[in-house]
Amino acid sequence: MTRIITGIQPSGNITIANYLGAIKQILELQKDEQNEILIFIADLHAITVNQDRIALKKHIRELAALYLACGIKTDKCHMFIQSEVPCHNQLGWIMECNSYIGELERMTQFKDKKQKQTDGITAGLLTYPPLMAADILLYDADVVPVGEDQTQHLEMTRNLANRFNNKYGETFKVPEALVNKNTAKIYSLVEPTLKMSKSDPNPKAYIALLDDINVAKKKIKSAITDSEGSIRYDKENKPGVSNLLTIYSALTNISIKDLEEKYKNSNYQQFKEDLANIVEEFLTNIQNKFNYYIKSNELDLILNSGRDLAYHLASRKIQKVYKKVGLGRN
Ligand code: TYM
Repeated sequence: MTRIITGIQPSGNITIANYLGAIKQILELQKDEQNEILIFIADLHAITVNQDRIALKKHIRELAALYLACGIKTDKCHMFIQSEVPCHNQLGWIMECNSYIGELERMTQFKDKKQKQTDGITAGLLTYPPLMAADILLYDADVVPVGEDQTQHLEMTRNLANRFNNKYGETFKVPEALVNKNTAKIYSLVEPTLKMSKSDPNPKAYIALLDDINVAKKKIKSAITDSEGSIRYDKENKPGVSNLLTIYSALTNISIKDLEEKYKNSNYQQFKEDLANIVEEFLTNIQNKFNYYIKSNELDLILNSGRDLAYHLASRKIQKVYKKVGLGRN
């Protein structure tokens, strides 16, 4: 059996980049009988930056419904909310106590977020990677499907696992990141050299899975390209067109080579029109299912059963870890 875990922060509107970077990989992995999959809503991570209470609650529930709407199968995947399994905080603290300030300060995502943060940088923003390590190590995960932006955190997780194992004896499995090289980094539609991010202040930069369909189509049609006019993949010189080709290819499973051939005599307008229609079909399908799940009682039952399984696995691990570290009386 291979155990797989991944999470998404409910810190904004889940985007097509989150889908292509992480969720789509799960859709493939759940086809394999040998895989046991845990997916969670990383709400504790979301509060490392300021969150409105009401909006956070809404985003947590929406993310649960979206996972299902995207095609996550509950017989293969156990879905839970991170804050409902307190073992994450417990192991998070132990991981923090095994992390060094210097290595945390060197994390690219910390440096980026620190620069953007206008109203004070929380300690949680700095100590985010040890909590992420705890999320993974608690379950002895073998594989962690993520986008490229999380690979540094995964490397830190591996370091922490090895560090702990060396200090206290074999305790944690050392996990591998699973990154799909084609969709590892989807870029902003307005600044195609920057990653597409759900917390981008400019909503034109991303396609959210819950965007109004016409708004989403407009975003594709007004995506930044270049003045050359030819539809070919050249990440360096044509980042905008290359990004759109990546999205098109990932949503249709048509190779970029075949797309270049298909559009060799076309213009950007036609290409974008077609991609907008593909995005329309993709979003319509997800939103129809989302509208069902968000109102359904099933959602709470699924989250309850995911929480119970996660708690069962995580609490056993935490007991072992406490013993190894010498905490408490047992
Ligand atoms: P988050 O919420 O920022 O992103 C969720 C997933 O989407 C991927 N992703 C992207 N993939 C391709 N292109 C992009 N532009 C893009 N933007 C985001 C991310 O790599 C991620 O896989 N720290 C994590 C959440 C987390 C987690 C974990 C993940 C907490 N604990 C344990 C895995 C395992 C995060 O902030 O993801």
